[in-house]
Amino acid sequence: MPVSDPSSPTVSLAAGDLTPGEMYLLLRDSVMPRPIAWVSTISATGQTNVAPFSFFNVCSPSPPVLGFSCGPRGDDHTDVHRIEKDTERNIRALREFVVNVASEGFMEAMIRTSDSLPHGQSEFAQNGLTEAPSTVVRPPRVAGTPVAYECRLLHILELGTNHWIMGAVVHLHIDPSVYLGARGSSRHRVDLLARADSRPVGRLGRANYVRLREIETHLRRDGPNQ
Ligand SMILES: Cc1cc2nc3c(=O)[nH]c(=O)nc-3n(C[C@H](O)[C@H](O)[C@H](O)COP(=O)(O)O)c2cc1C
Repeated sequence: MPVSDPSSPTVSLAAGDLTPGEMYLLLRDSVMPRPIAWVSTISATGQTNVAPFSFFNVCSPSPPVLGFSCGPRGDDHTDVHRIEKDTERNIRALREFVVNVASEGFMEAMIRTSDSLPHGQSEFAQNGLTEAPSTVVRPPRVAGTPVAYECRLLHILELGTNHWIMGAVVHLHIDPSVYLGARGSSRHRVDLLARADSRPVGRLGRANYVRLREIETHLRRDGPNQ
């Protein structure tokens, strides 16, 4: 167990004394590991786009809602003249997106899709990714990802220069290699740990990422252990 002496010193910082850039780096480098939403969208003129977002999580399982934080283009958190990233612009236009789970097999391609491309060029083609048609929404999925969630825009909560984009999950695609089928009372279970290349990758601080390797099982007394 770590030291739990309440009088042990800390570096004590008032949030209001930090610049937006300093706060961003502290959060990015300490709230981790983070899951990654690999978000595919389509523009009003039909141009496809895909980019990773690690300020991401499940907002609610019921109704099923996923959310991620989209910063301004150029990632300047002090910029008052905020220009939208293509992802946000596309979501505002079509009110639809797909969250693809970024797995180990896609590590390099996923990171490359964060590079800025001239407007009108698709990160799919540029990075050797294949577009797979979605069922309910117009933006395509990234073919081969273990799970893809088709989402309809629910709400964009504007928090300063970052916007928290929430989407209601309307359809799921699960790769058969991670699909378990019925287990217990649930008809559809998955195991993304089954194969190394289907394991989701995590974002750490700086330019660091994590592959899931040392996995431990700890049973809860009252919790769902299955
Ligand atoms: C692993 C990873 C995680 C990222 N997470 C975020 C994020 O949470 N929010 C954000 O605004 N940008 C994030 N970025 C940067 C965007 O992916 C990048 O700005 C991208 O070019 C946006 O694409 P777009 O302009 O096509 O929407 C991340 C980049 C990487 C590589």
